[in-house]
Amino acid sequence: AFEFSLRPQNLNQYIGQDKVKENLRVFIDAAKMREEALDHVLLYGPPGLGKTTLAAIIANEMGVALRTTSGPAIERPGDLAAILSALQPGEVLFIDEIHRLPKSVEEVLYPAMEDFCLDIVIGKGPGARSVRIDLPPFTLVGATTRAGSVSAPLRDRFGVVSRLEYYTEIQLREIVKRTSQVLDTEIDEHAASEIARRSRGTPRIANRLLRRVRDFAQVRGNGNIVFELADYALELMQVDKVGLDQIDRKLLLGIIEKFKGGPVGLDTIAATIGEESGTIEDVYEPYLMQIGFMQRTPRGRIVTDHVYRHFNIEVPNP
Ligand code: ADE
Repeated sequence: AFEFSLRPQNLNQYIGQDKVKENLRVFIDAAKMREEALDHVLLYGPPGLGKTTLAAIIANEMGVALRTTSGPAIERPGDLAAILSALQPGEVLFIDEIHRLPKSVEEVLYPAMEDFCLDIVIGKGPGARSVRIDLPPFTLVGATTRAGSVSAPLRDRFGVVSRLEYYTEIQLREIVKRTSQVLDTEIDEHAASEIARRSRGTPRIANRLLRRVRDFAQVRGNGNIVFELADYALELMQVDKVGLDQIDRKLLLGIIEKFKGGPVGLDTIAATIGEESGTIEDVYEPYLMQIGFMQRTPRGRIVTDHVYRHFNIEVPNP
C-alpha cells in the first residue's frame, strides 16, 4: 500500500503524457456522463513510462475496481472466462503484456470485448454444444511494449489506442520533486534536475535513482538531497552523465569494438554481450535510438558518431 501511494492516484497528479491525458479526460468524463463503461484502451510504449499507473488512474477516475493480470498468466480460454465472469459492471480489467496472450485465449477475448459475451463449448465430440454467457459491460486496458506484436484483430477492438512517449527532463524533474515530497525528503532543484537528466526519459528509473540517492543522503549526509551528493551517488551507481548504465555501455562499446560500429544483427549483439535480445529490443534500444545513439538499418544495428564522441573514441571516417 505504501509503494502504491507513491504513484499518482488521479489524472491531475499525473505529470507528462499531456496528449494521452487530455484525451483520456474527455473519454472518461463522457463515459461517466452517459453512465457507461469506458471504451477499451490500449497503451503502448517502452517499459517504465506509466502504463500500469494509467490503468489504475482510469479505474480510480471511473470510480470502479481495477483487476490486474498479464498475457502470459492467462494460459487457457477457461482462465480468461473465469476472470471475465467475475467482473462487476464497469470494472477495469488490466492485461499487461497483452501481446503475449495465447491465440486461443485471444479468440475468446474478441466477443467479450465487442459484445460483452463469452462463447463456451461444453463437452466434446458430437454431443458438444456451445453456450453463450452474457458479461457485464467492462473496460479492458491492455498494455504492451510492442504495438507491432499485437495482432490486428485485437488492436482493432480497442476504441482508444495511446502511445506513451519518453518524458522530458523538466517533466522528470517535477516527478522527482513530487516523489521526494511523498518520501518526506528535501531535495534541491539542481539535484532533482541531475537525477532527471540521468533517468533515460523514464519515471520508473527516476524514482529508483531517487531512492538510492536518498539512501546515500541518509547515511553519508544529513538526509537532505543536494547536488553534490546526488552527483556522487549517481557516479557510484555507474550511471553516466546522460543516464547510460553498464548494459548500455556494454551494448554500444560491443558494437564498436567487435563489429566496427555495425551494422550487426540484434541476435548477434545479444549473444556477444550475453543479454536477451528481447530485453535489448524492448528496454535498451528504444532509448538509445531516441537520443540518436543507435539506428536500425535493413542490414542491422549501427551506432552513430555521437557514441564515439560520448566515449571519447576517435570517429572512423568522419
Ligand atoms: N510517478 C511515476 N510516474 C509519474 C507521473 N507520470 N506523474 C507523477 N508521478 C509519477
